[in-house]
Amino acid sequence: MSINIAIDGPAGAGKSTIAKRVSKELGFIYVDTGAMYRAMALYFLRNGIDKDDESAVNKACENVDISLTYENDVQVVLLNGENVNNFIRTEEVGNMASATSIYPEVRKKLVELQQKLAAQEDVVMDGRDIGTVVLPNAQVKVYLTASSKERAKRRFLELRAKGEQADIEKIEADIIERDKRDMTREISPLKQADDAVLVDSSDMTIDEVVMNIMSLVKKD
Ligand code: DC
Repeated sequence: MSINIAIDGPAGAGKSTIAKRVSKELGFIYVDTGAMYRAMALYFLRNGIDKDDESAVNKACENVDISLTYENDVQVVLLNGENVNNFIRTEEVGNMASATSIYPEVRKKLVELQQKLAAQEDVVMDGRDIGTVVLPNAQVKVYLTASSKERAKRRFLELRAKGEQADIEKIEADIIERDKRDMTREISPLKQADDAVLVDSSDMTIDEVVMNIMSLVKKD
């Protein structure tokens, strides 16, 4: 049986950085489920689909095929066969992903793919509903969070390091709005699974968070 580690939490909590590190230490595959929702969102944006028009989104889903492959241990998301890694990391795509991930058609397709992957391989999978819905039997579940102020600060520094302009207050407002939408949607809202361990990384370094999670894995 494959070993599954689920890491859920709000936007900007550091899930992908941590999940990547933990998967490397364990030799597991890292599965970034947010990237799948982003690739779907990219398709909707490219094709002018209105995020509020559920039937248009449903119809568009019929024409979307998402798959994952790995190049030098890096996850590559394929949208109808095209590597879209370079196009999915914008705020526009993130907001579209958050808005369209509320629809059952969108989720059904991606959850099936995620469950298939986790059944075949040892994975560290991060997202919003991994411990609650996608992998309810995961051996280790972590709910990774940080204050919205701290998450905005990290995002601000990341953008500045890339030489991009950023307004920290606007970033925090966006984060709060995205949290609210992800936590209050009807299907698979973001919430801590009953058996997940809460890790608040506001005052922790990346190394400390990784060590904390590794100790949970070893205990199991
Ligand atoms: O983790 P991220 O920022 O890349 O995710 C983008 C959006 O995708 C997020 O706001 C909500 C949605 N998402 C989801 O609904 N379920 C997941 N398992 C992962 C992401």
